Order: sequence, then structure tokens, then C-alpha cells
Amino acid sequence: MRIPDTKARPKARRRLSGIVTAVLLIASPAVSGAADPPPTVDLEASDTIGKGATRFNQSCVYCHGYAGTGGKGATLQRRNDLTPAALFTVISNGRKRGALVMPPWKSTLSEEEIWELAAYIMSLRTMPEQKP
Ligand code: HEC
Repeated sequence: MRIPDTKARPKARRRLSGIVTAVLLIASPAVSGAADPPPTVDLEASDTIGKGATRFNQSCVYCHGYAGTGGKGATLQRRNDLTPAALFTVISNGRKRGALVMPPWKSTLSEEEIWELAAYIMSLRTMPEQKP
């Protein structure tokens, strides 16, 4: 098992990805699709989705519910409105709705792990409805 060491990544790359994210935040959704960060994993591979599911159950279930059924955080099932790039951005940077706060994950998780979570959430699009 690989233990991600995000701190070891070169500063320049981190700064660049920060700029890219900032630009994306400003640019979306007006030009959605134009400057999407390219996924670094195969989003449809069952291996990728499986890893995302495991992490989701560790880190996200508390707020987003079993299989994304929702709770403190939004429901993440059958969300055809969320693109992989949008998922990557919101998971990286976090989100706030009123008093409810989702923490940013980019300093805790590697980019690959964030894409795995995006892959898992994409897989929930076609999932049969599940009750919490
Ligand atoms: C402490 C609670 C909390 C945790 C933990 C949390 N979230 Fe969230 N999440 C929220 C809140 C609050 C929002 C704000 C959006 C809303 O609920 O309307 C949100 C929003 C989102 C959205 C955007 C939904 C939309 O409608 O645009 C995604 C995607 C998401 N979270 C994924 C995740 C993933 C993946 C994890 C685990 C790595 C996670 N969240 C962990 C609380 C949380």
C-alpha cells in the first residue's frame, strides 16, 4: 500500500496546480469543459472506483451518507450535473453552505486519490436508488 506524501511534491508544481484551480474556479461554469483538469486515472476502471469507494467510506460517509445518500452534505447519487472536473475541484477545495462546511482535501489526499473519489461519485450516477 502506498502512503501518499504530498508534502514531498515540488513546490513549483503545487503552486502551479493552485493557479490552475484558481483559474478554473473563475472560469467555470461559463466555459465548462474548456479548461478541465485531465483525469490522471481511468475513471471507469473498477479498480479505481473500488479505491474511491473505500476512501469515501472512510472520509466522506459521515457527511454525505452511505453510498452518497446525503446528510450534512449534498446527496451524491445520480448527480448527472457534476462533471469529473467539477468533482475534482470541489473535493480539492472544499465547499461551504451556510453553517455546513466541507473541508478542502487537497493537502490530505493526492490528486490520484481525489480522482478516485470522483470516479466513485461518477459511478453513483447509474446506481439504483438506495435508502439511507
Ligand atoms: C464535514 C462534512 C463533510 C465531509 C467530511 C465531506 N463533505 Fe462534501 N460537502 C459537505 C458540504 C456541507 C457540502 C456543500 C454542498 C451542499 O451540501 O450543498 C459538500 C459538497 C460536496 C460536493 C459538491 C456537491 C454539489 O452539490 O455540488 C462534493 C462532490 C463532495 N462534497 C464530495 C465529498 C467527498 C468526496 C468527501 C470525502 C473526501 C466529502 N465531500 C467530505 C460536507 C462534507
